[in-house]
Amino acid sequence: MLVNFCRFRKCQIRQLMMTCFVLSAVMIYWESFGNNLSNHVKSYSLRHLLSPFDFISANLTISRGEARKFSDYNYLINHERKCTNRDVLLLLFVKSSPENFERRQAIRSTWGNETYIERTLGVTVRVVFALGLHPQPSQRKKLQQELLREDEKYNDLIQQNFLDTFHNLTIKLLLQLGWTHAYCPHARFLMSADDDIFIHLPNLIRYLREVDRSGVKDFWVGKVHRGAPPIRKKDSKYYVSEDMYPWSVYPDYTPGAGYVVSKDVASRVYQASLTLNASLYIDDVFMGICANAMGISPQEHAFFSGEGRAPYHLCIYNQMMTSHGHVKDFHELWRQATDPEVQRVSSGLLGRLYCTVAKVRLLCVPHFLNTYPCKAAFL
Ligand SMILES: *[C@@H]1O[C@H](CO)[C@@H](O)[C@H](O)[C@H]1NC(C)=O
Ligand SMILES: *[C@@H]1O[C@H](CO)[C@@H](O)[C@H](O)[C@H]1NC(C)=O
Ligand SMILES: *[C@@H]1O[C@H](CO)[C@@H](O)[C@H](O)[C@H]1NC(C)=O
Ligand SMILES: *[C@@H]1O[C@H](CO)[C@@H](O)[C@H](O)[C@H]1NC(C)=O
Ligand SMILES: *[C@@H]1O[C@H](CO)[C@@H](O)[C@H](O)[C@H]1NC(C)=O
Repeated sequence: MLVNFCRFRKCQIRQLMMTCFVLSAVMIYWESFGNNLSNHVKSYSLRHLLSPFDFISANLTISRGEARKFSDYNYLINHERKCTNRDVLLLLFVKSSPENFERRQAIRSTWGNETYIERTLGVTVRVVFALGLHPQPSQRKKLQQELLREDEKYNDLIQQNFLDTFHNLTIKLLLQLGWTHAYCPHARFLMSADDDIFIHLPNLIRYLREVDRSGVKDFWVGKVHRGAPPIRKKDSKYYVSEDMYPWSVYPDYTPGAGYVVSKDVASRVYQASLTLNASLYIDDVFMGICANAMGISPQEHAFFSGEGRAPYHLCIYNQMMTSHGHVKDFHELWRQATDPEVQRVSSGLLGRLYCTVAKVRLLCVPHFLNTYPCKAAFL
């Protein structure tokens, strides 16, 4: 009897260990192939050994006078009355560059069409493009004239006189925060996005209306990078020196490709930016530092893609918020994503079942595509 009992226990333990082993193998497989987050996971654990990030904002705090120098640029093109006397649900800043005329056109005629949104969804959205000056002096004059002509027609460019370069993106963030504070503080949500991102604005508006109705505060949503480490490889675009950022992890942040904040967050992040050293040129990380200084942390939404691209499928269009890395296929994607067929295919019990299976195949089968997480298949 006793012997049997021991055997039984041993067997159970062995089974338990086997299960644990298999589970961890599966998890490691997921991490490295499904998401490739190994770096993040490493520093995520580190992050929890460290205290919260108060010391970062404390360390980067400078006087208001010093901080003002980071955003002290004049407007070359402005529209002070864009939001006046309007109940604006969403102010959407698209970070563009002077030469990206085609991208702006594609946005204006697809998801960025304010008239379309107003007519079909009955809400006011303002889409504006944030720009600096072309870095090449030889091209600047010609491009500047083209920009003025473009703006005369569309009235949607906001430009300041800093050089429009990758390493000046934080200045562009300060432009967006400053402009919102000065000219559109009543917009209920603020979004910042790249000009090669596809935003399913009808889905986003439906979602934000719900959020707005529930009266939330402290709202900051996107894809979330948790415990990401600074890149120390000198040849990387995202290289950050120890001088600029001496710590081993960034506070949680949402990639600049596309994120949304509520107006109270926009206002507090702006306030934080008035006393922080903005020399860190990774704009979305700097946004994370400002938010962190105010005790605000981001929440993840599975259908914000960050740097990833959504698979092309009807069942995805029904829920997608953003998809990154589009330029050529804006029109086609917009047409397909707003097709009434999308609703039809994915509704009803059978439709939902069909879409769950389709999404599992698209999102959960490990491949090397950077897209929505597997859990999005079950939402
Ligand atoms: C995961 O990331 C590492 C380092 O960033 C890279 O070397 C590796 O090729 C990636 N693996 C996959 C499966 O993408
Ligand atoms: C910020 O951190 C750096 C490096 O750790 C240190 O040299 C500097 O004195 C700190 N500054 C403040 C104001 O705490
Ligand atoms: C925006 O949408 C409206 C209404 O659907 C349409 O009349 C207009 O042509 C669209 N604008 C652009 C630039 O496509
Ligand atoms: C950022 O813009 C300022 C003002 O035009 C310019 O002096 C500076 O060189 C730019 N920085 C980078 C890294 O391009
Ligand atoms: C801001 O930080 C940089 C390091 O990234 C430093 O060189 C600079 O002196 C700081 N500015 C102020 C006003 O403290």
